[in-house]
Amino acid sequence: MPHFRPVSRIIEPQWVLEGAGVKLRRSIATRTLNYVDPFLLFDHFGSDDPEDYLAGFPLHPHRGIETVTYMLAGSVNHKDSIGNAGSIGAGDVQWMTSGRGIMHEEMPQPVNGRMEGFQLWVNLPAKLKMTAPRYQEILSAKIPHFETLEGAKIRVIAGKVNGVSGAVTEIYADPTYLDISIPASKFCSQPIAKGHAAFAYVFEGDGDFGITDSGVEESIPSPRLVVFDDGDAIRVRAGQKGVRFLLISGQPLHEPIARYGPFVMNTQAEIQQALDDLRNGTFVR
Ligand code: CO
Repeated sequence: MPHFRPVSRIIEPQWVLEGAGVKLRRSIATRTLNYVDPFLLFDHFGSDDPEDYLAGFPLHPHRGIETVTYMLAGSVNHKDSIGNAGSIGAGDVQWMTSGRGIMHEEMPQPVNGRMEGFQLWVNLPAKLKMTAPRYQEILSAKIPHFETLEGAKIRVIAGKVNGVSGAVTEIYADPTYLDISIPASKFCSQPIAKGHAAFAYVFEGDGDFGITDSGVEESIPSPRLVVFDDGDAIRVRAGQKGVRFLLISGQPLHEPIARYGPFVMNTQAEIQQALDDLRNGTFVR
């Protein structure tokens, strides 16, 4: 019998301006919730008004982290200092390991008037912070999916669930990243490795989260980020209109975190080094 995880925190996303003036909803990397080790930032972007995002994210650096972009609608045109350029569209995922340093630009565009997606930052352990940059792009058609007996649809972006291996592999934090849709009033349970940090980001409909054997649960509307306590599974029941959420979990690093904008290192001296490298033109090697 699994030990179902209770809810530990419910976070209402905050509106912030990022990049050259992109209005987005941030749930991790705020005063309320600095990080959920190993996850350093979680943003939900998208709007019916292109003025909210067309300025995009012009050329900027990253060091010490991985950024994961998952699109629901519209597209993001990108290019980077290791020679990748292209566009990711609805259902596609881009998993970028900045390692010691990458410079890139990310420019959102509407498709049929819509643009929506998510960006997650995953920390790298001290021993891999200065690793070579790496880039993985997975098109929607290559992302495995399955349906549960109760009719929940699950896309496996990373991790292994139900014998289905996700599209993105070889990530240090061993993350699981699922996109789960549950029809009205149906249940869904998902195993999560004990000791891993886990959160859900509810972005359509609503549902009861943190259903445990003692019956304790929280009714969660969208959009909300729900952080779970430890355990080895989660259980959710969809509300009257169904519910769709991302379920993200990973191995905590338990290392010191020094962050400054797009750089996340272990010490303040390493942050200073990143700034010096940027100034001296030695950031990208
Ligand atoms: Co970036």
